Amino acid sequence: MNKKLVSISLVCILLLSIFAGCSSKNGSEKTTADNSSSDNSSTSESTTTEKMSDELTATQPGTQPPTTTTQAPPEGLPADLNGKKLLAITFDDGPSKYTYDLIQELNNRGAKATFFMVGSRVSTFPDTIKFMKESGHELGSHTFNHKNIKKASDDEVRSEMTQTDDALMTVVGQKSIVFRPPEGSYSAEKLALIDKPCIMWSVDPLDWKIKDEQAVHDKIMANATDGSIILLHDLYPTSIAGGLRAIDELIAQGYVFVTVSQLLERNGQQAENQKPYFSEKPAAV
Ligand code: NI
Repeated sequence: MNKKLVSISLVCILLLSIFAGCSSKNGSEKTTADNSSSDNSSTSESTTTEKMSDELTATQPGTQPPTTTTQAPPEGLPADLNGKKLLAITFDDGPSKYTYDLIQELNNRGAKATFFMVGSRVSTFPDTIKFMKESGHELGSHTFNHKNIKKASDDEVRSEMTQTDDALMTVVGQKSIVFRPPEGSYSAEKLALIDKPCIMWSVDPLDWKIKDEQAVHDKIMANATDGSIILLHDLYPTSIAGGLRAIDELIAQGYVFVTVSQLLERNGQQAENQKPYFSEKPAAV
């Protein structure tokens, strides 16, 4: 009888120690995974890890899904920007030969921007787009051929989006995060085909038309308010020079330039796919 009790006790102790070992092992793996996902900033190493992790999952069914995908989540709004006056400046139709220097100027000012790129131009400016991503600016899609999606067929819309994201994947291993329709033209039916938020704007200096540095600057200064999304094009030196002057003055007034996704997150919600956004004012207190 005593011998039997001892045996049962031994089995219990053995089982308990196995369970304890398992749970502590799981705990440490989870901590590692959390650390790697919070480190998922704009480094090329993390992208490589994401790609490898995707491939691993694809070839080993039944393994844990990756915590991140190649459609990187938008960078969150840093906590210290809560309550600040925020602006999002956006550049369409590039990249161009001016974009690399523009990124450097933005970096010098601590300003973040969002670039809505035409996919057919992406392979011409790989270093520019790498620099853009490494600097923490946001990658946006403006279709592959600057196509009016409202007039395009469903297949054309899908193809325009896929081709652009494929081009970006080739260059920086990441798809675009947000979308802007060329000519600002869209319909709910076409947006339903696009798995990204649709970013419009609230400040439009018509820089492509006026091509005048002073006028671009003046129109931004006259119309930008907390939560505005400003539209410019990185194809014209006048747009870039006027935009940078306005950025300097707005920073001096206490504004902080963030990416579109960060701006849209200011009131505690992430931007929704297929939904158009024009600005994001601070929530009424
Ligand atoms: Ni455009």
